[in-house]
Amino acid sequence: MTSLPWWKEAVIYQIYPRSFFDTNGDGEGDLPGITSKLEYVQQLGVDAIWLSPFYTSPNKDGGYDVADPRDVDPRFGSLNDAKALIHRAHELNLKVLADIVPNHFSDQHKWFQAALHAAPGSAERARFHFYDAHLDGTPPNNWISLFGGPSWTQVPDGQYYLHLFDSSQPDLNWDNADVKEDFEKTLRFWLDLGVDGFRIDVAHGLVKEDILKNHHDPQGLSNALRLDYPMEPDERNELLLSVPYFDRQGVHEIYRSWRNIFDSYGDREIMAVAEAWVHPPINATKYVRADELHQVFNFDLLTAPFEAAHLFEVINRSIELNASVNALPTWALSNHDSPRVASRIGDQPSCALALFVLALPGSNYIFAGQELGLPDGELQDNDRQDPSFVRSGGLVKGRDGARVPLPWSGDSTPFGFTAGTPWLPLSQSWQPYTVENQEKDAESILNLFRRALSIRRENLLVGQNIQWLESPLHGTKGGSILAFKRGSITVVMNVSDSENVIELAGNVVLASFSSMQVNTAIKLLPARSCIWISN
Ligand code: NOJ
Ligand code: CA
Repeated sequence: MTSLPWWKEAVIYQIYPRSFFDTNGDGEGDLPGITSKLEYVQQLGVDAIWLSPFYTSPNKDGGYDVADPRDVDPRFGSLNDAKALIHRAHELNLKVLADIVPNHFSDQHKWFQAALHAAPGSAERARFHFYDAHLDGTPPNNWISLFGGPSWTQVPDGQYYLHLFDSSQPDLNWDNADVKEDFEKTLRFWLDLGVDGFRIDVAHGLVKEDILKNHHDPQGLSNALRLDYPMEPDERNELLLSVPYFDRQGVHEIYRSWRNIFDSYGDREIMAVAEAWVHPPINATKYVRADELHQVFNFDLLTAPFEAAHLFEVINRSIELNASVNALPTWALSNHDSPRVASRIGDQPSCALALFVLALPGSNYIFAGQELGLPDGELQDNDRQDPSFVRSGGLVKGRDGARVPLPWSGDSTPFGFTAGTPWLPLSQSWQPYTVENQEKDAESILNLFRRALSIRRENLLVGQNIQWLESPLHGTKGGSILAFKRGSITVVMNVSDSENVIELAGNVVLASFSSMQVNTAIKLLPARSCIWISN
């Protein structure tokens, strides 16, 4: 009997290394810190970890500005520490995904330094997007960086280079053979070191076309790309369909060639997941066609309001679109780029929604700290380090709130995270969230996640479809109940602010509210809650 590949429906735990656990007292998490906490991760019941970048980097964009993709930044440890981490993870039956950042390098990468010292038109400059200024000295086009400000920075000889993100992150030219070859080398480097796959940063951005063409509404586009910017859905949609630098057809050729590399590792079952924010949503499925990548992130739930009609629509759409290419969806409620779900929609809704999506077909990505119900950190502006805060002149608060280090133990901040001063402050109000406190409390969110993952593993079969029982489209509960059945488990979520009567037989095996209230004959489902019933 052949078993299914490990990554189908895997639950993957995202670790932001700088914020996980510090072993040397410098206030920043490190690789030995992750290794020392892998048993905790294993006991959660996840299948794999995804590590945000830990490569050599000046850290202008949280390590997504890579100066040497085949080495470890001293702030995180050494290559030997990376090996030890992978080795220990495998001993604990955890797979390891590394983050690969192919859209850009850091300006400190030796190639970019060489490009700066080389002449316009040189082979060194051809690895990036260097162009002459317009006659009036303005940049080659009017694109705005995703972190605010122009997408172009001028060098002393007058040429400009393109950077979709910070000026310290020059975009690579994927038409250049050196670039392709170097990334293949990097993929093999980490695979040979033992990683089981990759999360691909800005997977939709690598190929650029019509670089010299202006966009008709660069400011509108920049606003539309900001998730926190209020805009009429139709207007946003139209602008997002016109992004000139994302989702060009050429990216798929790159992933087909990467797939050959992954497959060459045979029964290691190497997998990759694309970070691809693309429009319309059907385009995301192209990244998971049979000869490309294995998974593509679905970001709908990072912004979805806690409303039945909206949730039903985005969840159902993702299942159906993925099915059209024979792939399974992915679900994520939080990551290092967006507000934590507990802060965005509230404690109870975030717990209910987590249980709801953990029972859906597909992979779940859990951002470290989500299992503790952590909110965003409370930061002062002078704590903030995100380049989007700096480049927008403080207009955009940035992503630091979600990156505050984890609270592990003890009664006072920084709750065991570090013996020194944490790189972002942990609020004293986080005491109830510590791992130590939650481990002691059978009713804690941490223990709820552990139970959910264990029931999921035992009862939900990979590839098993769902059948909607209640949806705003054909439901009877005034659009406040969403329910589906998957094998022997029925999942019911009440999104309304009042309790709701339900009529379902079976035993409640999991509830997002205190299990004291769980009993076999439940008829009233509390406001903003979710239960799993076993039939
Ligand atoms: C997406 C990453 O998740 C984010 O943190 C980073 O700033 C950008 N890509 C640029 O690499
Ligand atoms: Ca450290």
